[in-house]
Amino acid sequence: MEHFICPVCGENLILGDKVYECINHHTYNLAKSGYVNLLRSQRSSEKRHGDDKMMIRARSAFLEKGHYAPLLEGIVAECDRLQVKMLHLTDIGCGEGWYTDKIFTHLRENGHIVQIEGIDISKDAVSAAAKRNPYIAAAVASVACLPIKSESCDMLLNLFAPFDVGEFARILKSGGIWLKAIPLERHLYGLKAAIYDNPYENKVAVEQYEGFELVRRTDIRDKLTLRGEDISNLFRMTPYFYKTSAADQQKLENAEVLETEIEFAILIYQKKSFHHRETTK
Ligand SMILES: C[S@@+](CC[C@H](N)C(=O)[O-])C[C@H]1O[C@@H](n2cnc3c(N)ncnc32)[C@H](O)[C@@H]1O
Ligand SMILES: [Zn+2]
Repeated sequence: MEHFICPVCGENLILGDKVYECINHHTYNLAKSGYVNLLRSQRSSEKRHGDDKMMIRARSAFLEKGHYAPLLEGIVAECDRLQVKMLHLTDIGCGEGWYTDKIFTHLRENGHIVQIEGIDISKDAVSAAAKRNPYIAAAVASVACLPIKSESCDMLLNLFAPFDVGEFARILKSGGIWLKAIPLERHLYGLKAAIYDNPYENKVAVEQYEGFELVRRTDIRDKLTLRGEDISNLFRMTPYFYKTSAADQQKLENAEVLETEIEFAILIYQKKSFHHRETTK
């Protein structure tokens, strides 16, 4: 199974003994935990990005408790619509691969033959994803330059993560699905209200993208009542923790109970086929 293409020459990478190699002898070692670094650009602006170990640990612990189960159910329901037995999925901005693993396992249990990659700019994240499930081919790469063969994917998972419309259109098959999950207006409003004097609602932009058709939107809303380490894990997995002063951080660290809304949208974009493009001109 060929998961990746060479970021230098674009040829397929073949996995040998702990090393990926292309026909032009560009080689990429597999790290001990099982991921490969295919990040072409080492620009410092890209190096700085990506989630750190603390954020990753907090998110793993929080997700493991099932607090975002309604979202996972919504994503799984979309995957169940895929009719093909052999599926190629790539999770872009996969983080530590919690959803990647759950979706892979669900599809396999339902009789699909699944090829799956997890891509993230954070080494710590892909390292955790590779450890979580050895069937996930995990690579460090940027969304702007994906080491994935053109027109090869049936579905892209893209959950609370950056996207690149041109790259997504390139790697998806015609008619392929880009599943995008975004937070809605009042997602985590209770958490923000516990920290800030003037909490604000999230800005939500549901857009049309060239080459894609937005075929479905599913909104998911729920309320959580959290205690103890669930509160600090949720806080630490959000950007708010890093943007908040030590004094304000303390407000949540001392809270015994936190009630908050969770609100997501699952957006399904389908790559237009050439035929469709002609008919819509
Ligand atoms: C909010 S997290 C979501 C992780 C995972 N999808 C989830 O929902 O649990 C966003 C992820 O995007 C990654 N990321 C940020 N910039 C990126 C880029 N330019 N290319 C690829 N991944 C990126 C981060 O490292 C992080 O793991
Ligand atoms: Zn090469």
